[in-house]
Amino acid sequence: MKLISPSLLSADFGNLQRDIEMLNASECDWLHVDVMDGIFVPNISFGQPIVKHIKKHAQKPLDVHLMIMDPGRYVQDFRDAGADILTIHYEACHHHDRVLHAIHDAGMKGGVVLNPSSPVSLLEDIIQECDVVLLMSVNPGFGGQKFIENTYNKVRQLRALCDRKNSQCLIEVDGGVNLQNATKLFEAGADVLVAGNAVFKSDDPAATIHQMKQ
Ligand code: DX5
Ligand code: ZN
Repeated sequence: MKLISPSLLSADFGNLQRDIEMLNASECDWLHVDVMDGIFVPNISFGQPIVKHIKKHAQKPLDVHLMIMDPGRYVQDFRDAGADILTIHYEACHHHDRVLHAIHDAGMKGGVVLNPSSPVSLLEDIIQECDVVLLMSVNPGFGGQKFIENTYNKVRQLRALCDRKNSQCLIEVDGGVNLQNATKLFEAGADVLVAGNAVFKSDDPAATIHQMKQ
């Protein structure tokens, strides 16, 4: 699968509706929504009220990436705000199985996110509960950072783990994705690419999304 999930963190927050409508008309598949708490990651982005506003205009599934400590506390809140896919950081949560069940019970797709320094082997006993696994290809917290090359290895390792465990989960990559590395990531086995700056800072975001899917 070759899906693109543009990250709204790089959108113009003063013109969010305009940028969402641009994405609605583009070939992108999901809208990536980065929620940061200033504790798990150094940055603060936005919370449920903004997600609710995004949902009002979006015509594609909201792929909500929670960079917050103890994310189990907010599963229902983000469902109510309009999340369709909810991903939680392995490093920010103690009870992955419990939280993934809560995400599914609330009617969403769910998954685990790994920081660049967290090995794929951590997912050995939770992969069966994941609809998606998100591999961070930068240290989470900010858009516009440089892609970490070891991500290709991790995508291949995760693909092997999915095959071995007979898991259908989608492999998503987030951070520093651009037109130069997108093809190689898809070839390594990624299904979904998140792109913030590469899309929003380009002269023609819709054309960039189109090219990334080629
Ligand atoms: C980083 C966020 C990313 C970020 C990606 O913590 O999770 O989704 O917006 O932005 P780019 O594509 O610019 O690296
Ligand atoms: Zn993200």
